Amino acid sequence: MSKDTEKAPEQVSKHGLARRGFLKGAGIGAAGASVLDGVNLFAKEVAKSSDAPTVGPGRVPISLHINGKPYRLLIEPSTTLADALRYELGLTGTKVVCDRGSCSACTVMLDKMPVCSCMMLAVDVENRKITTIEGLAQNGELHPVQAAFVEHDALQCGFCTPGMVISCVALLERNPNPTLADVKLATSGNICRCGTYPKVFDATLAAAGAKRA
Ligand code: FES
Ligand code: FES
Repeated sequence: MSKDTEKAPEQVSKHGLARRGFLKGAGIGAAGASVLDGVNLFAKEVAKSSDAPTVGPGRVPISLHINGKPYRLLIEPSTTLADALRYELGLTGTKVVCDRGSCSACTVMLDKMPVCSCMMLAVDVENRKITTIEGLAQNGELHPVQAAFVEHDALQCGFCTPGMVISCVALLERNPNPTLADVKLATSGNICRCGTYPKVFDATLAAAGAKRA
């Protein structure tokens, strides 16, 4: 292709989809674009009426408290907690599978509450206590839930495992005596394509018993 006929490259999202390409592919023309403009306008109005302070544009300094340690970061305000953990801090134990809140692979604890870290902005969790899979073992000893997962062979490919373990740890933090139904409910958002659920349930109930003993 000659230089004259070369087109300027489109801006491509992290999913490899250019905005213009997306609109064409979805059959959305000018009318669709104006819908998007309307959505953007609405978002701006919501932001204006919100009490939340505006941050950015550009990288902003934030403090995170992860696994008992303080971290200072300089990040884009749009960075999710999952991406901050993985790409800014190298805490790659937290997995990103769907990146849209539907699989729970990215689960971490926020003040003991299990949350999908791909659905949270890092700037919104400053000064909250964040626990990732890397923070569970203490003094070289696996957390009882981790040890029970090993003992009960509760993983196969392992992609769902960090999020699954965190969901089970969070359950035992709020309910040390769970029933099978409680464990099923606590892990109901964690999608395991390898089908390890029965062993995850056994492991979590065993860990609860070990913690009580
Ligand atoms: S990667 Fe966050 S919910 Fe799937
Ligand atoms: S062990 Fe493979 S997805 Fe759960």
